[in-house]
Amino acid sequence: MCGITGYVGNRQAQNILLNGLKRLEYRGYDSSGIAIILPDKNTISLRKSPGKINALENLLKKKPLFGNLGISHTRWATHGAPTRLNAHPHYDCTGNIALVHNGIIENYESLKAILIKEGHRFISQTDTEVIAHLIEKFYKNNISLEAAVRKSLKLLIGSFAIGVISAREPDKLIGARLGSPLIVGVGKNENFLASDVPAVLDSTKDIIFLDENELVVLTKNSLKITDLNGSPLSKTAVRINWDITQAQKQGYKHFMLKEINEQPAIAEHLLKLRIQGNNAKIHFEEQKIPDEKLKKIQNISIVACGTAYHAGMVGKYILESVCAIPTQVDVSSEFRYRDLLINENTLVIAVSQSGETADTLAGVKEARRLGSAVLSICNVLGSSLTRESDGVVYTHAGPEIGVASTKAYTAQLLAFYLLALYLGNLRGCLGKEELEKYVNGLKKIPRQQEEILKHQNTIATLARRHAHFGSFLYLGRNINYPSALEGALKLKEISYIPAEGYAAGEMKHGPIALIDEYRAVVCITPASHVYEKMVSNLQEIRARKGRIIAIATSGDESIKRQTKEVISIPQCEEIFSPLLVALPLQLIAYHIAVKRGADVDQPRNLAKSVTVE
Ligand code: AGP
Repeated sequence: MCGITGYVGNRQAQNILLNGLKRLEYRGYDSSGIAIILPDKNTISLRKSPGKINALENLLKKKPLFGNLGISHTRWATHGAPTRLNAHPHYDCTGNIALVHNGIIENYESLKAILIKEGHRFISQTDTEVIAHLIEKFYKNNISLEAAVRKSLKLLIGSFAIGVISAREPDKLIGARLGSPLIVGVGKNENFLASDVPAVLDSTKDIIFLDENELVVLTKNSLKITDLNGSPLSKTAVRINWDITQAQKQGYKHFMLKEINEQPAIAEHLLKLRIQGNNAKIHFEEQKIPDEKLKKIQNISIVACGTAYHAGMVGKYILESVCAIPTQVDVSSEFRYRDLLINENTLVIAVSQSGETADTLAGVKEARRLGSAVLSICNVLGSSLTRESDGVVYTHAGPEIGVASTKAYTAQLLAFYLLALYLGNLRGCLGKEELEKYVNGLKKIPRQQEEILKHQNTIATLARRHAHFGSFLYLGRNINYPSALEGALKLKEISYIPAEGYAAGEMKHGPIALIDEYRAVVCITPASHVYEKMVSNLQEIRARKGRIIAIATSGDESIKRQTKEVISIPQCEEIFSPLLVALPLQLIAYHIAVKRGADVDQPRNLAKSVTVE
């Protein structure tokens, strides 16, 4: 996620803003910038640079900015590559307004077209720059900066947290938010704006958390909060007792737990971004493979590693069920070395959170050499994989700091569901009614994920009851067979407990020899067309005293005859169950690992991105 800091007070703003950005580095970014009002000239001057904050610092060492009011930003690129021109802050045409923004403006293209027609000149590819020009458009005659900001924000569709300054009102710092966090740091004769608490903790612990559709006007010794209609609101500051490290996790013990809990919001955001209007039209802003090409595809080959590979396995079930396109899935390290029978009739889908996994990159290069079009599902804009691909579907999950992938996994699954609906509709194998049924089912997912997370303390207690087991088996069938593999990977990589994922139907072909009272078996048993088959497996395990944890659909009373250890997920369309099942599997792994004192966010021997073979 991007980072925002703002300062107004008696001190020099530059280093306060830079230090604030450094406190937000954990959020991940690929460019940064700063704008300060120069009091002697009543103008705004800015510096910005791609790359890390030290690149910005080097610019400022050569040409420092002196002033007591400014804004700064670290950008996690979503629209437009991580270049200097795309870095924030952004100016309006006159350079009298500077703005920083977190979030995604979904209707920026239509607004930009109108503004260009009215003579505005844009220099970046970002959605953000549109906001600066909208404010300029309304900031005329005797309209105040805050009134111009309010008018502009009402035209936006999407999410925003913004910081705005103007050389015409050099004592004011304005912030506003909808769908992206923004906080106010309350100081003595100085005030702060930031996207997150750590950015201001070095100067103040008195924090006001802005809520949706709230706008704040700060001067060095005043603070006014209103709604977007200008009605005043009274909010009290809270005293933060977190330390910096804890604050970067927003109060969660580990980044992994924070990222598990971010999943409903990410799902909500992705569905809003990709499903436009009520006619269930699916929209991928960066997918450049022409529809004519996608219509002719005869088969799909998915290539990925680790968790991304498990997402690809779920993708196979989805694509074959929704689009009837023959689909195979390979781990990248096997894909790149086997004799591939792919060609121009094959669509290769590469899945990667980081976009830097060496085996996946090598597989994609081989696929292109053989004439296949490559579509990547990736979380990092501008990463190597996206530059090697003909089309990209970004997962927009924000930086995933925990080595064990959680929010990126369910975001990858969502990308597959949406891609399948897009292809199914495009290739005429999905009627309007069926498409709407699928879309309506997907739209329920964020609330259903939230429902599961409401019971995470119960899941934690159940997990801790099983933390002493020396080995685990994860069983699933059909579209939840990959869920079993993913659950086992989550547990083994952060708790170091041997854990195997298996197709439940394979029990009699070997794994059943492992079952005894010392073995914990996680059985993924939601309502499905293979439910009865799963119950038979549970009976076989019970007969051999295996300790069963069942993940089942809420309201399923019969499962309790097999085990008392049941985690419920809300009733959903069977095809969407991996999006829900993933959360209890992540929480089981997390809480067992914590109970065993493992280094959850940085497990031994593992890297977040395997950039070597
Ligand atoms: C998953 O929890 C692991 N961190 C690992 O398996 C990971 O999924 C794999 O290395 C692939 O990474 P990528 O998605 O960045 O390509």
